[in-house]
Amino acid sequence: MNYDKKTILEDSIAYWNPGKTRFWQEAGVPLVIGKREMYYLWDMEGHRLIDCHLNGGTYNVGHRNPEVIQAMVDGAQNFDIGNHHFPAIMRAVLCKRMDELTPDPLQYTVLGSSGGEAIDVAIKCARYATKRTKHVSIMKAYHGHTGLAVGTADAKYAAPFLMQKPGEFIHVPFNDLGAMEQALKGGDVASVIMETIPATYGFPLPAEGYLPAVRELCSKYGTLYIADEVQTGLMRTGKMWGIETFGVTPDILVSAKGISGGIYPITATVMSAAAANWMNEDGFAHIATYGGSEIGCCVAMKTLEIVTRPEVQANVASISRYLREGLDRIRLENSDFFTGIRQCGVIMGLEFGVHPEGAKPVMKHLYQHGVWAIFSALDPKVLQFKPGLLCDKALCDDILARMELGIKGARKEVLG
Ligand SMILES: Cc1ncc(COP(=O)(O)O)c(C=O)c1O
Repeated sequence: MNYDKKTILEDSIAYWNPGKTRFWQEAGVPLVIGKREMYYLWDMEGHRLIDCHLNGGTYNVGHRNPEVIQAMVDGAQNFDIGNHHFPAIMRAVLCKRMDELTPDPLQYTVLGSSGGEAIDVAIKCARYATKRTKHVSIMKAYHGHTGLAVGTADAKYAAPFLMQKPGEFIHVPFNDLGAMEQALKGGDVASVIMETIPATYGFPLPAEGYLPAVRELCSKYGTLYIADEVQTGLMRTGKMWGIETFGVTPDILVSAKGISGGIYPITATVMSAAAANWMNEDGFAHIATYGGSEIGCCVAMKTLEIVTRPEVQANVASISRYLREGLDRIRLENSDFFTGIRQCGVIMGLEFGVHPEGAKPVMKHLYQHGVWAIFSALDPKVLQFKPGLLCDKALCDDILARMELGIKGARKEVLG
């Protein structure tokens, strides 16, 4: 295929998404992704980037990971999307594996094809199980753009499409247990939805004991706890799920993005038997044609196999430490600009708190130095920095050297 970048940009403005296309040109990130391989991306005109955002973990195991591609190719020898009305080989295999990989009482899995859909399923299950329609999420939450998910999100996402439902979707400050209890104590809330470390808010860490206390409040008031593990699951925190790191057991857990291996869209909403009871009463009560494509299941099985390898878990522990040491050093040298580091495993929020949008110039300068990492949409002073689970020490060194140059460049631009 022989396309030139200028034509692609013009056609993207004319036929795809003018606002989004123009935004990146103006932000100093004129990227149109061409070649991609493991943790590298190339702009179609050749500029190489080390991907340190990975679409929020979609590419945890790399872009076009050869093992994942092979799983998809092998899967296509025997399977296709499948027929969602019938039991299927790969769906049974994957759902059983999800049961094994999640804490009790999680047991049943509804498979889907986007994170927002998977969150919508979780919310629907909570409604069915509790016969209540209210949901509590944090202020600055983001759980996807679909119907129910967007209701739980910050107004920035819900308001343009008139999706705010103030009586049904209640927002409380993060890390505020008093506000949480206040919202739940009427005994009329179906679910609390919590992203274990809220990504779009810049990865602020839950205070010690906060998530378990929210869990307790949910149990006390008959509310289901939904854990959004779309970005924090799959070994990112150093454990399979972020909830394990923070000591909380949800009624429903949502996995998306990374479970696709970056190759085939698939998601999993895993729930307790109590939350899944609608399936006994009416197994057809929720349906999605693409939900649990059998080829997607083959890809998810391979991705789960990769992320649960002991050597991958050990690697996450060692690169988390190594990158942190390097970042601490860069921070010390630029402490008037690089103001803090939030970290849990290979989930990092780098704070550039001298300006409310301090991470935007950092993103631009990192781009120039060959690193891709994005500002947090709901707190743009924080850069989302999520290097891959399989990065080795040499790649970490390369990333750190480029980070140093990019951060220095941004500091000079902002502070003079
Ligand atoms: C925490 C979280 N939940 C849910 C979603 C929605 O996923 P999707 O974009 O696949 O609908 C996202 C997407 O960025 C996310 O970050």
